[in-house]
Amino acid sequence: MSDEDDRRAKPERRDPQAPEKGSMPRRAGDSHRVRAAIRDELETLAEAKSDEAPPTPGEGRDPARTVIALENVSLGFDQPILEDVSFSAKGGETIVVVGESGTGKSTILKLLLRLLVPDKGRVCIDGDNITDLTFNEALEVRQKMGMVFQGAALFDSMTVFENIAYPLREHTKLTDDEIEERVREKLSFVDLEPEKVMDQMPAELSGGMRKRVGVARGMANNPEIMLYDEPTSGLDPLTTGTITYLILKLQRELGVTSVVVSHDIRSSFRMASKIALLAEKRIAFFGTPEEMTGSDDKYIREFLGGF
Ligand SMILES: Nc1ncnc2c1ncn2[C@@H]1O[C@H](COP(=O)(O)OP(=O)(O)O)[C@@H](O)[C@H]1O
Ligand SMILES: [Mg+2]
Repeated sequence: MSDEDDRRAKPERRDPQAPEKGSMPRRAGDSHRVRAAIRDELETLAEAKSDEAPPTPGEGRDPARTVIALENVSLGFDQPILEDVSFSAKGGETIVVVGESGTGKSTILKLLLRLLVPDKGRVCIDGDNITDLTFNEALEVRQKMGMVFQGAALFDSMTVFENIAYPLREHTKLTDDEIEERVREKLSFVDLEPEKVMDQMPAELSGGMRKRVGVARGMANNPEIMLYDEPTSGLDPLTTGTITYLILKLQRELGVTSVVVSHDIRSSFRMASKIALLAEKRIAFFGTPEEMTGSDDKYIREFLGGF
């Protein structure tokens, strides 16, 4: 197993001081603010959509093709975590998975990467059930996916250049020149100046810049699928906005299909084609942001802070 796999296999660090719940406004006084924020967000989105030129066809964008599917997936460790969970993503869609802490959101990403296999059900990537694959076959499927880990998780002892070049050296036959060209291309895509940041160490960058380098590394292999685990956690609102925009940019310009785990409802509404709400081991809701705000379901309304 490579270092990268090692890192992936390890359960991520938890910060007991930062309950995910806290970022979902829950107090009654917050409900108006949340309602107004979500309404603004939906209006801005509707305007943006009507103004938009037709999107350029990205490689992965094919609304008729199911790229990702969980079918009746159940998984438990000491106790059941997911029960009969199903959802799917068509080509170019962004599915945002929300839910309280410990409901199994990161576990879903690990199932998609086949770092975990379900006790029951199927996980399909591009129509292929990946649960029965051999280790080597699974590595091949993983090459279709780029992952942005919680907290960016860059290698602290490597420069920005080496961080992004790493998956290319590991998994491709690109020459050094081609790798350098690719690293520059990805840094530019995430709006970082290659000349300025390539030789810097992660510790020298701001939190937002580290996240962008994390995205550049995740997309280095030109994956058709991107997975993000809480890409905006710990960021200020402005930086949250730029990362949200970046995820949208990958979807719109490259047609990437994405699954984003998020605790930030506002940014979820901006980027989601569909939202999957996990609660009590099941998908309590799966639908568009508009459908979610229109729902009368008591739990959903509570989840949205009384929206
Ligand atoms: N490798 C593991 N072994 C045992 N329990 C685990 C493991 N990974 C996750 N869990 C448990 O599964 C539940 C869901 O975890 P996780 O998917 O990380 O939740 P979330 O990302 O929604 O906060 C938690 O109760 C967690 O403690
Ligand atoms: Mg998690």
